[in-house]
Amino acid sequence: MAHKKTQDDGKIWGGRFSEGTNAFVERFTASISFDKRLYQHDIDGSIAHAKMLAKGGIITDIEESEILAGLEDIRKEIADDNFEWSVKLEDIHMNIESALTKKIGEIGKKLHTGRSRNDQIATDIRLYARDQLDQISNIITLVQRNLLDLAERESNTIIPGFTHLQVAQPITFGHHMMAWFEMLNRDFERFQDCRKRLNRSPLGSAALAGTTFPIDRQYTADLLGFDSPIPNSLDAVSDRDFIIEIAAAGSLLMTHLSRFSEEIVLWTSAQFNFIELPDEYCTGSSIMPQKKNPDVPELVRGKSGRVLGHLVSLITLMKSQPLDYNKDNQEDKEPLFDLIDTIKDCLYAYSQIIPAIKCNKISMRLSATKGFSTATDLADYIVKKGLAFRDAHEIVGKTVAYAIREGIDLAEIPLDKFSEFSPLIEDDVFKVLTLEGSVNARSHFGGTAPNQVLTSIEIARSNLEMR
Ligand code: ARG
Repeated sequence: MAHKKTQDDGKIWGGRFSEGTNAFVERFTASISFDKRLYQHDIDGSIAHAKMLAKGGIITDIEESEILAGLEDIRKEIADDNFEWSVKLEDIHMNIESALTKKIGEIGKKLHTGRSRNDQIATDIRLYARDQLDQISNIITLVQRNLLDLAERESNTIIPGFTHLQVAQPITFGHHMMAWFEMLNRDFERFQDCRKRLNRSPLGSAALAGTTFPIDRQYTADLLGFDSPIPNSLDAVSDRDFIIEIAAAGSLLMTHLSRFSEEIVLWTSAQFNFIELPDEYCTGSSIMPQKKNPDVPELVRGKSGRVLGHLVSLITLMKSQPLDYNKDNQEDKEPLFDLIDTIKDCLYAYSQIIPAIKCNKISMRLSATKGFSTATDLADYIVKKGLAFRDAHEIVGKTVAYAIREGIDLAEIPLDKFSEFSPLIEDDVFKVLTLEGSVNARSHFGGTAPNQVLTSIEIARSNLEMR
């Protein structure tokens, strides 16, 4: 219900209104409860704007220094949790502007010359997102370094490689860790790519059309570390592509982490028993005393859905929005903040988990010896003795069927039996049937042989150095 405008309504935009805001509407439209986390960036943007106004003679140097000092005081008050937030003042911009005017008087009212909350918020979130992308990129690099150390430590450790979750061929654990490394490498590149497009300045676009004041957009862009001003003022205030790009890159990253998590959950199970996680990264069951559950990777796996959900809400938020700024855009913040917090937490968890992974080499090895994991090696061996691969494939298929009937592994088949399947099989066959023989034989760029894994670790380390 509308109520009469009162003195204490205190709305910065209240001039044209004769009634106060409905209390529900006030709460419903306010964003201060969540956009207060943008305060540093809001103040940085205001400082750049005030410096530009002074440089262009739009405000005086004295006014500039009053405004800058006032803003720095406010920054400190907020940092010290000594600032009174007001829902009536709706958002971060008006809370800070109003505090400034309270603090320095009439001069504070000049700060908003030649700008709008529309270019202000667009600037704030770009600055915030840039900082966060840099933090995310640093944690990705940390996780990658940890993966390289683990891969090096376990470059010789043999595990079964799976396709269709069926034992396929023996691989080295180091090779598997390097696959994770590569996935994160693409994530890192994607975030770097997002950063290029987001690091452009909307400031000076004002509400949508620009401003009648003689502003210098290049100057504020430089002050804020943006690569350039955004060329079109309409586009500058309405574009949220960069948030969607972060959400998309983040969803893919989370998809990768969910895949790591799924493998860790499987590997820590009694059935696989490949790895062990430290107690401090697991939890117990309230009823089953024997349980040690991999809750942290499970939660990371679950949180991938949450980040993907934010991508869907953000892209839906922008769909069909007419130019220019619409209040809908206020809904970009909570998903963005939450997805960034989630990604950082999940990466942090991985930075801790990876160095703590303990390999149960005996179980890994035992599992790799099962499932005829060296059958392809046998086929390749026969091909090297002169048969076409398809024919060799057929022979090995029959040999495997025999081994299944007998309940033995390929390496346990006696030589005279082998020669019944193919006269090309001689007693040097047993070398290729060993796990080490199998992995060492795949010694080419990108292959699973320990020497190749070590080479790829070395290359990866020097690439990380160049970041
Ligand atoms: N709180 C708003 C947001 O987050 C700030 C911009 C408001 N602009 C406006 N014209 N109402 O998008």
